[in-house]
Amino acid sequence: MTVFRFLVVLVVFHLNFVWNIARGDNSVSCEFGKNCILPCTFKPGPELVIHWIQTIGNIQVHSFYHNQDQLGHQDQRFKGRTSIFKDQVSSGNASLQLTGVEFQDEGRYKCYTSVTSGNQESFINVIVDGMTNTENTH
Ligand SMILES: *[C@@H]1O[C@H](CO)[C@@H](O)[C@H](O)[C@H]1NC(C)=O
Repeated sequence: MTVFRFLVVLVVFHLNFVWNIARGDNSVSCEFGKNCILPCTFKPGPELVIHWIQTIGNIQVHSFYHNQDQLGHQDQRFKGRTSIFKDQVSSGNASLQLTGVEFQDEGRYKCYTSVTSGNQESFINVIVDGMTNTENTH
């Protein structure tokens, strides 16, 4: 029974992932070493909480609540490389800016937002480009 439920969850997750990629609107290409914006929007409201998570390993990328960045539990790898646009959060823009993009940044990210009226989650697939250019010159 447990195995069956696990399989159902797995299949649903997989279909969701394939669907997200197939739709093509949840991916962002980032250039190695450059800055990159991971888009996220939500329905604004009071008592805003934002959590950006890299889903593999459940890594804390950036958090924001009580009207300020909360980086006490941020993963070392993201230290000093993340920011959100504070002048835009009140209008429902929780996009994350990542600086000095690394190859390990590639993968799936979750943008979790919560306000008094409820919470929202969205996912974005980050693809890191960089090797293509050097390969083409050979
Ligand atoms: C969110 O803010 C960033 C930075 O100003 C901007 O590039 C992006 O387009 C904004 N997203 C939306 C949906 O307004």
